[in-house]
Amino acid sequence: MERVVEENLDPKDWREFEKLSHQMLDDMVQYIKTLRDQPVWKPPSSDSKRFLTEALPTSPAPLEQVYQEFKEHILPFTNGNIHPRFWGWVQGTGTMTGVVAEMLASTMNPSTSFGNHADILVERQVVNWAKEIFEMPQEASGLLTTGGSTANLLSLAVGRNSMFPEVRTKGMKSLPAPLTVYASTETHSCLDKSIEMLGIGRDYYRKIPVDDNYQIRVDDLNRQIENDRKLGFIPFCIIGNAGTVSTGSIDNLMELSLIAKRERMWYHIDGAFGAVPRILPDHYNELKAIEYADSLAFDFHKWFYINYDACCFLIRDGNRHKEAFAYTANYLLSHDKGIMAGDINPHQLGIELSRGFRSLKVWMNLKQYGIETYRRLVRQNLDQAQFLGDLITRESELQLMAPIKLNIVCYRFNPKDSNDANELNKQIVMRLHEDGIAAPSFTLLKGQYCIRVAITNHRSTRQDFVELVKNTIRIGRELTKRSAIIA
Ligand SMILES: Cc1ncc(COP(=O)(O)O)c(C=O)c1O
Repeated sequence: MERVVEENLDPKDWREFEKLSHQMLDDMVQYIKTLRDQPVWKPPSSDSKRFLTEALPTSPAPLEQVYQEFKEHILPFTNGNIHPRFWGWVQGTGTMTGVVAEMLASTMNPSTSFGNHADILVERQVVNWAKEIFEMPQEASGLLTTGGSTANLLSLAVGRNSMFPEVRTKGMKSLPAPLTVYASTETHSCLDKSIEMLGIGRDYYRKIPVDDNYQIRVDDLNRQIENDRKLGFIPFCIIGNAGTVSTGSIDNLMELSLIAKRERMWYHIDGAFGAVPRILPDHYNELKAIEYADSLAFDFHKWFYINYDACCFLIRDGNRHKEAFAYTANYLLSHDKGIMAGDINPHQLGIELSRGFRSLKVWMNLKQYGIETYRRLVRQNLDQAQFLGDLITRESELQLMAPIKLNIVCYRFNPKDSNDANELNKQIVMRLHEDGIAAPSFTLLKGQYCIRVAITNHRSTRQDFVELVKNTIRIGRELTKRSAIIA
């Protein structure tokens, strides 16, 4: 018989691999240690853009060369959210523990779908810790997901499937009338997508106006539900915001919970980042009603500073969660013994069968730092937001655009003689990014373009916000002077 030379993908020279992989870790530690000296962001060079369009490699290349290419073409052109002066959108920073946890998880490389193994138990423990954090009952259930978008989608799917189980077999057409969903106009756009994907349709998504604090108008909500019932629709779900994406405002969660109960509707809370300050005594009361929600979505990768991606949703009634997606294929049946002996099947609590070991980095960070550390850091970010607000109000050329409820500050450069403040502030944001100084993002409040700072960054210091204010004014003045000369 012909001798077959079999191969695998492990290193051919382990010593060489050891050396190089240690070098990679050393480089990354050094990179994070010196981050503050780097620009927050820089655009990918044209050379790197060209490099990243090369065709599929056919023959092998040494790992050392591939690593050099990574260092040259990828690493310098990252999003920047690890930097101390990144405050765009709501993006977390990650930790060095997360870096090594990803390496450990990736070494084990389990698919955390089902079965009798420790990684499944780790995720279970993390979900139980989340239940503890938000004081959800013992019988609550949950799952880690990629992000808030999936967590919100799955939460609503559980609500829909458990309230209208016939939808699972007969589809939405089996319902006697369309379902309607209610949330404020400030609700994150991922919920529009969820509503589309669940077959509810955006025409049945009632966006309720907000008051001056960007909180849902409860009287309008009540009126809309009543009206929809009269018209024969089926009011299905109220979504409360624990921290809206634009301003961080928190809806009156307790009142929404009572309305949902009275109307026998599903009550979901999107607490992507704003649920987290519930761990602080002075935010506990306004976020307490989270424990009464039927479902909650919150991100570990935002205000728990865990490396991407790590999100979680919790379902108050664990049985409803299990029933919402329950489906057992004959090749996935539980056994009495062996790998299939476990009774925890994460794949039955969501839509993914193949799932990575994202719970390890959450588990390691929470164990290492303990909830006390998060209390201090979340408090630090909240204080930094107030500090920035004070800096802004002291400057006559800057204007605070919304009350600072949590960690989000919206402001703009607003010289009295500027008649196009929207364009001017957009230019300021782009310059702050392009010059690598800072990375705030932006939002429109009542049609006005605002520079928006969302602080979920454990590396920021007060001095970073001083720099932001100083540079906003400097760039704003330069741009106003330039447009005056052109005019
Ligand atoms: C309030 C809110 N909900 C949902 C999301 C979506 O979460 P993710 O980006 O993790 O998908 C975000 C993102 O910033 C958010 O701020």
